[in-house]
Amino acid sequence: MHGIMNPILVTGGCGFIGSHTVLALAESGWPVVVLDNLSNSSPRVLERLRELGAPPLEFVQGDVRDASVLDALFARHRFEGVIHFAGLKAVGESVAQPLRYFDHNVGGTLQLLQAMDRAQVRRVVFSSSATVYGDPAQVPIPETAPLTATNPYGRSKLMCEDALRSLHQADPRWSIAILRYFNPVGAHPSGRLGEAPQGVPNNLMPYVTQVALGLRPHLQIFGDDYPTPDGTGVRDYLHICDLAEGHVAALRALQAQGLLTVNLGTGQGVSVRSLVETFAQVNQVAVPSQVVARRPGDVAQCYADPQLAQTRLHWRARRSLADMCADAWRWQTQNPQGYDSTP
Ligand code: WQD
Repeated sequence: MHGIMNPILVTGGCGFIGSHTVLALAESGWPVVVLDNLSNSSPRVLERLRELGAPPLEFVQGDVRDASVLDALFARHRFEGVIHFAGLKAVGESVAQPLRYFDHNVGGTLQLLQAMDRAQVRRVVFSSSATVYGDPAQVPIPETAPLTATNPYGRSKLMCEDALRSLHQADPRWSIAILRYFNPVGAHPSGRLGEAPQGVPNNLMPYVTQVALGLRPHLQIFGDDYPTPDGTGVRDYLHICDLAEGHVAALRALQAQGLLTVNLGTGQGVSVRSLVETFAQVNQVAVPSQVVARRPGDVAQCYADPQLAQTRLHWRARRSLADMCADAWRWQTQNPQGYDSTP
C-alpha cells in the first residue's frame, strides 16, 4: 500500500476477532478507526495494540445502532471501507433473548449500512458465521450449501446476509464481502491479545485453557455418541491470526466491485477429544474431562470447503492446531483474568 490511505472503520474492534484484525490491518499499513460499545470487550485492548506496534488509532466508544454516532464518524473521516464485527454472538443466550439479538445484530447492521449509504461509503466486510449452514447435509461445506438457522443468533446472521444480498442487487455500486467464520481459536503469539470471554465460556477452547490453568475443575465433553470418528463433535478450528489476515485479504479483493461470500476455515475437521489431547500434549498440561449429555442445538460435524477463499481472496489458513493450542495457552497463562489481569 502506498501513500496516504483513507482509514478503515472497524466496528467491534476491541473484541476477540476485531482486535486481531485491527493489528493485521495496522501491519498492512491501513489507518484504522475503532467503534466499540465495550459491552463485551475491554478498552485495555487498545493499550495492547499500541504495545504491539500498531500506530495510534482513533477509538470511539459508541453503539453501532446509534445513527447520530455513525453520522458524526462518517462526517469526520473519509473511510476506505468498513469491517463490521459489532454484535452479540452467544447461541444459547440468543434463544433466551431473541429480540435483543435481532436488535443488536440486524438493527445494528441496518443502521450501519444506511449511514454508509448517506456518506457514500459502499465497501463493507461482514462478519458472518458457519452457523448459517445449520446442520449440514454434507461436509466439507461449500458456500453453495443450503442456508438455514437453528437459533436466533444464526437467524440474525442470515437476515444480515439477505439484507446485504438485496442491497447489492438494488445498487451494484456496493462492494460486499460476506465472511463465514468456522471456529476461531488461539491468540496472538505475543500473548498480549486473546479471547477474554465474560463469565463461563460458551466455547470449547477458552473453557479448556481455564481448566488447564485450574480455574475450573474439569471440562464437560458434550456427548460422545455422535456419528463421528471418536463420537465427539467435529469442528473446523482456525487460528485467530489466520482469520484476521483473511479480513485484510477480503478488503483487498473488494477494490473491484462485487459481492463475495466465502468460508474462512482450514478444511480440517477436528473432534473435541483430538483438540483436548493435542492441547494437553503440546502444552504438557492436564485437562481433566468428563463426558456428559449432548448440548441442545449442537451438530455432529461442521467444517469448511476452503477452496473459494483460496481462489478469490488468495488466502488460506496456514497455522496448525498445535500453534492454536500453544498460543491459546500462552495467552491464558499470561492473562489469567483476561484483560483485567495485572499488566
Ligand atoms: C465446539 C465443540 C461442542 C464447549 C459456536 C457458535 C458459532 C461460533 C463459534 C459465533 C462442540 C464442544 C464446547 C464445552 C464441549 N460463534 N464443547 N464442551 O458450537 O461449534 O460454534 O461458536 O459466531 O456460531 O455456534 O463452538 O466452541 O461452543 O463448541 O464439549 O464446554 O466443542 O459440543 O462439539 P460451536 P463451541
